Amino acid sequence: MPSQTETALHAQARPESRTGSHSSTHRASLEDTIALTLTINGTQHALSIEPWTSLLDLLREQLHLCGTKKGCDHGQCGACTVLVNGVRINSCLALALVHDGAQITTIEGLAEGDTLHPVQHAFVEHDAFQCGYCTPGQICSAVGLLAEGHAHCRDDVREQMSGNLCRCGAYVNIADAVDAVRCARSPAANGEDAR
Ligand code: FES
Ligand code: FES
Repeated sequence: MPSQTETALHAQARPESRTGSHSSTHRASLEDTIALTLTINGTQHALSIEPWTSLLDLLREQLHLCGTKKGCDHGQCGACTVLVNGVRINSCLALALVHDGAQITTIEGLAEGDTLHPVQHAFVEHDAFQCGYCTPGQICSAVGLLAEGHAHCRDDVREQMSGNLCRCGAYVNIADAVDAVRCARSPAANGEDAR
């Protein structure tokens, strides 16, 4: 049975050791990397990242998928648009760890072999780019937009693509390209959408 003195010493020691333990745990959590799994363009990746890594930086810096562009890096330009479980997001604003287990599609994952995705093909057909910097984000955003199914005319396309900026001003041809795919997928739209 411990003496009163020993009991008092232990009673004092416990809070100190808890404090020390908490500090070292806290330090470890800041220094440690976090494991996550993402399926990117159909391939599963087991990854280890710093907790504050954005999805954009993970794609570009760690996986070298540099098709996804960094423009503003704070949600203003849409250059970093990718699809997460089929939904378009700005990857610069997304913590990668939040999307553990998700299916990510980048511009590199849209074509099937040598066959371009219909939106990619339409961008070529309609000459919908100049420097091309915004183009991967524009195309991923358009793929997401078409999947959403809320665009019923060319003006809807322009409105729903408004988060994707193009410094070259290729907006007319971009809207033409996206709307061409929309009309091709929804033939009934052609009659109600004469421009
Ligand atoms: S780089 Fe993400 S919105 Fe501009
Ligand atoms: S094509 Fe140059 S920024 Fe859009």
